[in-house]
Amino acid sequence: MVKTRGLKEAIKKLGNLEKIISNMLKKKKKIRIFESGCGYGQIMIELKEKFGDKIDIVGMNYKPTKNDTEAIINFTKTEGKKIIRDLKKLKIKVILGNAGKKLPFKTGSIDLVYSQTSSYLYEDKMHFFEEVARILSKEGIARITPAHFKKNLPKEFQKILMIYDNGTEILFGKLIKRFRNIKLITLPSKKQVIEIKSGKLNFGLKLESTINTNHLAKKWFGIVSVYSFK
Ligand SMILES: C[S@@+](CC[C@H](N)C(=O)[O-])C[C@H]1O[C@@H](n2cnc3c(N)ncnc32)[C@H](O)[C@@H]1O
Repeated sequence: MVKTRGLKEAIKKLGNLEKIISNMLKKKKKIRIFESGCGYGQIMIELKEKFGDKIDIVGMNYKPTKNDTEAIINFTKTEGKKIIRDLKKLKIKVILGNAGKKLPFKTGSIDLVYSQTSSYLYEDKMHFFEEVARILSKEGIARITPAHFKKNLPKEFQKILMIYDNGTEILFGKLIKRFRNIKLITLPSKKQVIEIKSGKLNFGLKLESTINTNHLAKKWFGIVSVYSFK
């Protein structure tokens, strides 16, 4: 289920990353970028082709699961080979890890974080958002496709992020209004995106339970995460 979508798709889902980077480069000579769940890295390749040495990009993917294997082999035989060559040529680093855990970057060290159609697959989505705020530099920005609703899952699993305060459900959109450095914004494409700025972000939540819908049906991709307040 590893997919690869380029900048054309990203402008609709994340906004204009090229413009964000160009604006940052007016103030800084070089900027550091992290893509969480980069798939085959098409966005990273296109950004690196455009900005060259002015940007450093690291992408992260989860270790391929059994279900991915066939797709990866088929993909590698065709488009994959070219992409792997491009990633090497452009010196783009791809690391394997779990973005729902502590991110392997120093506090305040990344200028742009973006993540497209990936965080709905993380067990601890809220911890990911907290970690993103931690690693962002002072003027840094993160753009992440929303992970609280997944419309192509069966109805009972569509709400893939649930937060309960002693029996009362608190909607993600409502909860984040309590924090100054995370918000949902509507893009010109009318799609919503999560924007995070640097600083302390602590929701005070405990991950109580998760359901990997892919274990219930091969074509259901998503992880339902249920939280309580600590
Ligand atoms: C549906 S693909 C999206 C790929 C790409 N961003 C795109 O838009 O085409 C999901 C990606 O998220 C990654 N992923 C899934 N769970 C992850 C996790 N816990 N930590 C890091 N990456 C993860 C997968 O490795 C895969 O590359």
